[in-house]
Amino acid sequence: MRMVDLIAKKRDGKILSKEEIKWIIDEYTNNRIPDYQMSALTMAIFYQDMTDQEITDLTLAMAHSGEVVDLSSIEGIKVDKHSTGGVGDTTTLILAPLVASVGVPVAKMSGRGLGYTGGTLDKLEAIPGFKIELTEETFIRLVNESKVAVIGQSGNLAPADKKLYALRDVTATVDSIPLIASSIMSKKIAAGADAIVLDVTTGDGAFMKNIEDAKRLAKTMVRIGRLANRQTMAVISDMSQPLGEAIGNSLEVVEAIETLQGKGPADLLEMCYALGSQMVVLANKAKTVEQARLMLEEALSSGKALAKFREMIQNQGGDDSVIDHPEKILTAKYVFDLPAKQSGVITKLVANELGIAAMMLGAGRKTKEDAIDFAVGLKLCKKVGQSIEAGEPILTIHSNQPKEEIQEVIDLLYKNIEIGEDGAEPPLIHAIITE
Ligand code: URA
Ligand code: CA
Repeated sequence: MRMVDLIAKKRDGKILSKEEIKWIIDEYTNNRIPDYQMSALTMAIFYQDMTDQEITDLTLAMAHSGEVVDLSSIEGIKVDKHSTGGVGDTTTLILAPLVASVGVPVAKMSGRGLGYTGGTLDKLEAIPGFKIELTEETFIRLVNESKVAVIGQSGNLAPADKKLYALRDVTATVDSIPLIASSIMSKKIAAGADAIVLDVTTGDGAFMKNIEDAKRLAKTMVRIGRLANRQTMAVISDMSQPLGEAIGNSLEVVEAIETLQGKGPADLLEMCYALGSQMVVLANKAKTVEQARLMLEEALSSGKALAKFREMIQNQGGDDSVIDHPEKILTAKYVFDLPAKQSGVITKLVANELGIAAMMLGAGRKTKEDAIDFAVGLKLCKKVGQSIEAGEPILTIHSNQPKEEIQEVIDLLYKNIEIGEDGAEPPLIHAIITE
């Protein structure tokens, strides 16, 4: 095979075969296809699109370009959850113990990633002692005995995607639905998922800025999941404002604890029920999402889900007294309010900009090498659609620098919070895609 012929084929809108796609990915992973030819191909895909079968073949080829995690010694259907990105997204911390408490095995491999706040791993490390590096043997034993464990991702999952994503990033080919769908699904399959629940976010804080694109991406991933023998469902959720109230690592751990205690923000809890009930159905623990939701509501109100979180923290060496004394990890030196400058209704809390503000306080990484300050972040007092009086706090800032030194953060926050005369709460879930 010659790469130039395959580039021409896609340029002319023809369909690549499974063998051709597999050859391209193998050769590219092993540095036998240069970046300039791969860039030409990704640009051809950007313009010509791919069929569901081509995307599935690309997904599977990338999934098998490195290590594929074998979770077959864990009993039951392993369901993984993936979000296409959000601000203050605390769902994984809540969902892992919540669905495990109704018998769904959660063998979660998480990343750190670059983001406004840390990834799930960073948030868990905000719990003193919590170990995210376990041997594979311990990981599998814990999931079999306790139904839940969360560990750091191994280095060699889907190396083809890593290389291709870096190339897309500098060749203006990130925004291509077949390329995004295969990128996400290849990593889930390499991580050993039997079934996948996707949270496709939309709005300012998300990758997909509008609902139509989010729906197209979700439908594509659900269809290729089926073709690859991984049952897949998706929720299209709103990320125009942050999810929940907390943005920042320790703050989000505390928010997760409060949610599992039934005292969390309503939108975050609703999101967890929506995603969790799909996970329960895909794991074959309930027939319908309605039945699954009732199971999860019972697990939460009876305290079973919180007990599971405690067990997970203990199993992984963490200090579970944070559940009873969350103030232990809220150690920022300064906590001050950001007061409203006028009365009215909150009409905008621009999610990605609030995320950047939290990152500037030290809650996230600007580069891979940065250290995270677990204690800092933002806690919203109001959300879009709620009314506020002048002088009342819109949010509180948890900072390790005095107010004088974070004027830039304060300015950024005011610039991205709007108070108007009237405004409504945005819908949280725009659609649920099951086929
Ligand atoms: N997230 C991914 O993992 N891959 C993409 O291509 C885009 C978002
Ligand atoms: Ca949150």
